Amino acid sequence: MPGKVVQLAPLLGLIDIPFINYLSEIGGFDEMFLPYMLADEKSLAHRGILRRRLAGVNNRKTIVPQLLSNSAVGFLHFANELYELGCRKVNWNMGCPQPFVVEQNRGAAMLRNLESTKALLETVLPKLKPELSVKIRLGYSSADEFSAIIEMFNSFEISELIVHARTAVQQYSGEADRSAFVIGAQKSKNLVVYNGDIVSASDTNGFQLLNLKGFMIGRGAIANPFIGQQIKGEECGNMAARFQKFCIDIQSWYFEHGTQGSVNRLKELWKYFSKSFKLENEVFALLREVADKRIFAEIVNRIFSEYETVF
Ligand SMILES: Cc1cc2nc3c(=O)[nH]c(=O)nc-3n(C[C@H](O)[C@H](O)[C@H](O)COP(=O)(O)O)c2cc1C
Repeated sequence: MPGKVVQLAPLLGLIDIPFINYLSEIGGFDEMFLPYMLADEKSLAHRGILRRRLAGVNNRKTIVPQLLSNSAVGFLHFANELYELGCRKVNWNMGCPQPFVVEQNRGAAMLRNLESTKALLETVLPKLKPELSVKIRLGYSSADEFSAIIEMFNSFEISELIVHARTAVQQYSGEADRSAFVIGAQKSKNLVVYNGDIVSASDTNGFQLLNLKGFMIGRGAIANPFIGQQIKGEECGNMAARFQKFCIDIQSWYFEHGTQGSVNRLKELWKYFSKSFKLENEVFALLREVADKRIFAEIVNRIFSEYETVF
């Protein structure tokens, strides 16, 4: 759908700064969201620490850091420091369903108590320097909660409301509920961004919403790094060759700069990269048990010379 904003979703443990930099070289994504960092009142990070967190980012204007917080003091401190470091927008994570997050009244727990979330926003927004983007779910335990959530956000002017179209209780299971999203999002005074299960450009068709700002894509962007360009109708060139370069560039970065865990990190990415090969299961099976960097690199070379991609 040309004309819409395309955002890369935050994926903790999967996507980080080197991935983002190489994806920027491919193009098609307007903004890339960093996985969440805790913005707690008790752990107010100094600018130096935040600067290190952003180290290596090629373009800070397209990066959106995400904060996990239920503290106005903590959120404002981190967000305003990030602004001084060049970030024009921050995202508030109000969608994380992990039990250890929810138990501390952070992430999706904030959708269960709209009164206190509203009070937090009332305190934060007047003093916030960067633009505010918020990432939510359809509800905590039911999509029936969605319209009350939208209404609460209608009291504020924010940059966008990004909706992962599942409930928190669903976590990542079942299909994302596009129709519940469209019905509820129509009532939003803020612009909305759809998120959930977009794996091809055609998945962005059929959203009849005047206030739709764009799409956020997570796992689908690892399997197909050209999805942003395809959504925008841009020329993608020789995708098979570009895909190989993308995978190898990321791998080289990890093998040069990464820690002991580099092979495991790459294996997580290959769970998705392998979806872009015609024999997906066979390709991933070749890498599943490998622990050694050199052998891993050899097998990856073999995969690219012997297996056909879908591009
Ligand atoms: C491994 C993993 C890590 C994630 N980390 C975050 C995170 O740090 N912050 C966040 O808001 N969502 C996080 N999510 C949710 C995604 O951003 C996204 O909302 C979800 O995967 C649905 O989009 P997709 O179907 O395009 O992947 C994570 C999801 C996965 C699978």
